[in-house]
Amino acid sequence: MSGNTDLLFQASCLRQKAFAWFTDVTLVSDPDVLAEYESLLDDQEKRRHAAFHFPADRHLYLVAHALLRTSLSRFSDIQPCKWRISSNKSGRPEVAAEQCPEDRIRFNLSHTKGLAACVVTANVDIGIDVERLDRRCDMESIARRYFSRQEMQALMALPVHDRPTRFLEYWTLKEAYVKACGLGLSIPLDSFFFYRDRQMVWRIGFDRDDDPSEWRFVCVRPTPDHVLSIAIHDADPSEYEVNISEAWAGRLTHAWKS
Ligand SMILES: CC(C)(COP(=O)(O)OP(=O)(O)OC[C@H]1O[C@@H](n2cnc3c(N)ncnc32)[C@H](O)[C@@H]1OP(=O)(O)O)[C@@H](O)C(=O)NCCC(=O)NCCS
Repeated sequence: MSGNTDLLFQASCLRQKAFAWFTDVTLVSDPDVLAEYESLLDDQEKRRHAAFHFPADRHLYLVAHALLRTSLSRFSDIQPCKWRISSNKSGRPEVAAEQCPEDRIRFNLSHTKGLAACVVTANVDIGIDVERLDRRCDMESIARRYFSRQEMQALMALPVHDRPTRFLEYWTLKEAYVKACGLGLSIPLDSFFFYRDRQMVWRIGFDRDDDPSEWRFVCVRPTPDHVLSIAIHDADPSEYEVNISEAWAGRLTHAWKS
């Protein structure tokens, strides 16, 4: 049996820890590698993969899901193709409970042009979002529509050239939170807001029923062109350790195979 020799963890290693991997999906084009990644997908993923109209979207989906499955297998002897993933009642994809009877492996996935990222932990709600910095959009009108008053004020107080980065920091933090909650856009995006405290740590405030002290956020630039945010919901989030690494798109299965 193949096992992850160099990166073998147990699901218990994920207690109060999250591991995120991001990968530049443009760095893989070898047909053999892509065929191997396709063989990791389950039937539903294969159908979704085949249904994409544009080759770039199909490629992004394939590499993102190969990243997810190989990342999950770093924490278990379950092979990447064997993970049973289905959407819960709110539409969030989850690992079947019977595949991790003790520490429940939890994950979230995000993809944007050129980059895929996933985060894996155990037991707690977690969300991840990545976006490209060169994304063309009418930043100000989107911010007016979706951001809270506090975020809008802080954004507009910045020098003009700093606004696009801050806009995407807010955006990815909001998405990561909404994805961790698993409720999608049923949560009004202006019912919570982000700010940085004196130690420059990202914090959340709520107009909705939630407790800021139970949330931990990380917002980084994994590449010069991207912003990546992670949201973790835990009773004692200050103890949470978050590791973020790059995975090579052409060698995703190497992390798992011996
Ligand atoms: C899922 C959702 C929450 C995020 O989607 P997105 O940012 O477009 O896409 P991402 O690449 O970050 O995430 C997609 C992945 O999230 C996961 N996902 C799907 N539904 C989810 C849910 N309800 N909760 C958490 N994760 C979910 C899936 O793994 C999906 O990947 P897949 O389709 O390849 O399986 C989306 O439905 C949504 O509601 N987006 C909000 C868009 C918006 O207006 N944001 C404004 C921010 S200010």
